[in-house]
Amino acid sequence: MKLEGERVTLGVTGGIAAYKAAELVRLGIKAGLKVRVIMTPNATRFVTPLTFQTLSQAQVRVDTFEAVVPDRVEHVALAQETDLLVIAPATANILAKMARGIADDLLSTFYLAYDGTTLVAPAMNTQMYLHPATQENLEILRKRGVVVLEPPEGELACGDYGPGRFPEPLHILERILDLLYQKDLYGKTFLVTAGPTREYLDAVRFISNPSSGKMGFAIAQEARRRGARVYLVSGPTHLEPPWGVEYIPVTSAVEMYQRVMDLYSSVDVVIKAAAVADFRPKPLTEEGAKFKKEGKEQFFLELEANPDILATLGENKGHQILVGFAAESQDLLENASAKLARKNLDMIVANEVTVGFATDTNRVVIVKRDGTFRHLPLMSKEAIAEAILDEVAGLFQGARSR
Ligand code: CTP
Repeated sequence: MKLEGERVTLGVTGGIAAYKAAELVRLGIKAGLKVRVIMTPNATRFVTPLTFQTLSQAQVRVDTFEAVVPDRVEHVALAQETDLLVIAPATANILAKMARGIADDLLSTFYLAYDGTTLVAPAMNTQMYLHPATQENLEILRKRGVVVLEPPEGELACGDYGPGRFPEPLHILERILDLLYQKDLYGKTFLVTAGPTREYLDAVRFISNPSSGKMGFAIAQEARRRGARVYLVSGPTHLEPPWGVEYIPVTSAVEMYQRVMDLYSSVDVVIKAAAVADFRPKPLTEEGAKFKKEGKEQFFLELEANPDILATLGENKGHQILVGFAAESQDLLENASAKLARKNLDMIVANEVTVGFATDTNRVVIVKRDGTFRHLPLMSKEAIAEAILDEVAGLFQGARSR
């Protein structure tokens, strides 16, 4: 689901992590958000407004009484133009003021004038964070519906170790997007598979393929942002699982098969983006041992077929929507349509093998069970994930209206 210029007001308060909020602004703008920054006077002692102004391409507000536009009551007008308020970093001081309704600067006044969703990322010294006053204030805010990001534990700028660190800006952005997305897949459970599988010959060698997992991870993330509960079963990749998904790492096709079958009856949609190895070698050694080359000029690998996971799901299809992928080297539409029919799918996402493997982009055609298809241009895997989930959401709507 595209975010189109959703308006985020970012409050930056006076803690050392203020400089990390600059990165958050950069990431937010890159994600398509419109970001307006309010700094407290203390925050300007750590970072200059010019930094935020340059990154957000908008005037930074600090002073309650400075009119950005003549005759405009800034805190009230800005509150009406805000879809989400984020305070990051949030000091103990701003949390206390928010909890008690003190309005003695622009940010705290803005908070009272604003009645939408608020996210705070507390960041401070561990003792200050754990102090009963701060904890009680956070409890008041939580009860009021404010979303509080728990500060991670770690080494702090003051040298202490404990909770109070500023979360990674990317993690904060993920929570921001999560709060802004329309939840059109709420109440649905998705099972997404991703990545390659590894088929071991001995303790250290395996057969695999260069799948990066990016497509499946992008689908899992998009489904989660749109409100679905998501299981992500993935072979080995270098990617970090998206926030909020239930991540189930696997290695071989047989292991993926088992985990997918265990979950199948409890999900509404299965999207099989994994590049599953069709065959596995018969083991060359006892389990845990390494194959020795000594005395061998050549040897033959004997392969046995892996279960076709998607075909098995198709054979046992109940209420679930099944979406497969097809990587083809020729006759793309014909082969993909045949695969859709053979595996009893609702939809198949097909691409030429020469595009899309282990890259950030792909060019796909989405073929549906009724024979209709949609060609998409070369685009990012995130944008493809969005298009696939729009189609899936359309199938749910179609089922409801029948
Ligand atoms: N798939 C699967 N289990 C397998 C092989 C493939 O679940 N053992 C799934 C893939 O995740 C994908 C779809 O089936 O969604 C099609 O995979 P693809 O490799 O294109 O097709 P295959 O069925 O393996 O046929 P072929 O390789 O002969 O084209």
